[in-house]
Amino acid sequence: MLSLFLLASLFSLGQSTPLAPRQTTTTNRWETLPDTPALPTPINTATFSHEGTSLWYQKYNTAATGTPIVMIHGGLGYSAYFGSVIDILSQTHQVIAVDRRGHGRSTYNADDVFTFDMFASDTYSLLQSEGVTSAVFVGWSDGAATTLAALMNSTIDAMITKAFVFAGFQSVSDSNTTFTDTAIYSTFVSRCATEYATLQPSANFTDFATKVATLEGTLPDWSDAELAKIDGSKVMIAGADHDEAVNLAVPAHLNSVITGSQLVMLSDVSHFAPVQDPVGFAAAVEAFL
Ligand SMILES: *[C@@H]1O[C@H](CO)[C@@H](O)[C@H](O)[C@H]1NC(C)=O
Ligand SMILES: *[C@@H]1O[C@H](CO)[C@@H](O)[C@H](O)[C@H]1NC(C)=O
Ligand SMILES: *[C@@H]1O[C@H](CO)[C@@H](O)[C@H](O)[C@H]1NC(C)=O
Repeated sequence: MLSLFLLASLFSLGQSTPLAPRQTTTTNRWETLPDTPALPTPINTATFSHEGTSLWYQKYNTAATGTPIVMIHGGLGYSAYFGSVIDILSQTHQVIAVDRRGHGRSTYNADDVFTFDMFASDTYSLLQSEGVTSAVFVGWSDGAATTLAALMNSTIDAMITKAFVFAGFQSVSDSNTTFTDTAIYSTFVSRCATEYATLQPSANFTDFATKVATLEGTLPDWSDAELAKIDGSKVMIAGADHDEAVNLAVPAHLNSVITGSQLVMLSDVSHFAPVQDPVGFAAAVEAFL
């Protein structure tokens, strides 16, 4: 989650020097943004055509038995941010990486208004088209909100056997108000702009990012009562002990309102845990499965 402050950051990118070396003596893991991992090869060039968009996805280890794991990345980024986690999980599971509408290699329509329900339905339609009738969802940040939206939609919920919800949130006010002041945030945004130019050379990152900022500035708006309808017996709520983007009390709150859900707090990591500690992240997913 990036909030509307994203816009201000985007428009100041030209003047700022977010990548300048920091004069610090300690480098806590939760304050670092390691390089974006590579996705395991191959990188699919095929996409799923849906509602005027091309949605990119890649299946890994299709020979594995058991329920496939669908990896749903965070806002502004794309599936490669999960690359090292996918490397590990795909040793023993079928994994399906997806780029959400507009993100990474997936396109969007000029008049799209992004919603988490839209992203959840996109994911559902893509999986349906691939003949996937049941799946484990692993969602991170906006991908976690997408997963919660999927769990609250009875059609989509029916295909979800388990859901690992990392750094999720239920409202705009779950966002940490100092997030956009952090060094890691400006590094992340400028890196995403650079990556987007490579992934979609003809796309307009500012236009895309403005749609993401509008989404994150307005949604989600779920009440505790709405979340309480989720079948918590298949849900793991995961949080980061140094999350700078989602308020620190949010994971325990989600866990308390989603009856029957489990809670795990990942250690010495921030909102960017999947790149800071992919081994620990993958281990938490494995332990849940
Ligand atoms: C629930 O998901 C189905 C399948 O994607 C979709 O047709 C429907 O519009 C969704 N409902 C909401 C409220 O988003
Ligand atoms: C990119 O999108 C922004 C926001 O929609 C718009 O103001 C700008 O003119 C666009 N740039 C180009 C080159 O089309
Ligand atoms: C917001 O993040 C900062 C670290 O960037 C942390 O010190 C603070 O406790 C967080 N606030 C809340 C309400 O979680």
